[in-house]
Amino acid sequence: MPEEAVSNETQKVTRREFLSYAWIASMALFMTGSGGATLAFAYPQFKAGEFGGEFLMGNGDDYEIGARVLSREGRFFLVRTSEEFRALYQVCTHLGCLVREADDGYSCPCHGSFFAPDGTLLRAPAPRDLDEFAVTITEDGEIIVDTGSITKGETRSA
Ligand code: FES
Repeated sequence: MPEEAVSNETQKVTRREFLSYAWIASMALFMTGSGGATLAFAYPQFKAGEFGGEFLMGNGDDYEIGARVLSREGRFFLVRTSEEFRALYQVCTHLGCLVREADDGYSCPCHGSFFAPDGTLLRAPAPRDLDEFAVTITEDGEIIVDTGSITKGETRSA
């Protein structure tokens, strides 16, 4: 059986090959970094108590029926009706001004739209009810408003 000749020579990398490897490695690093940045941008993380995240609003027993409480940081009114809690987004559905609490609902200072205490549109030019954030009540009765989960208000005909 013939023995194969084993070369003890080490293979030298040419300058051109070295530059090719360096370029490929730098591109791989760049792609990894930019991919990570893209993912971080696509899936932003919000902290509790920060708009876009969850707000802990205390225990439901602390609110009387008919209560309306403004969360400035969350930009919503927490409303207790006889059946449920609702979190109404403070932004007017017309052109985005912040609505203000009035005796019998919410008024928009920009163009005069008016909404009922439950967010129902009563006066145009806004096209629909106030939008709402998701509200969760824990087993202990604690209220959590998720400002990252919004439902559009119902469109009303003029
Ligand atoms: S922005 Fe509220 S009525 Fe126009």
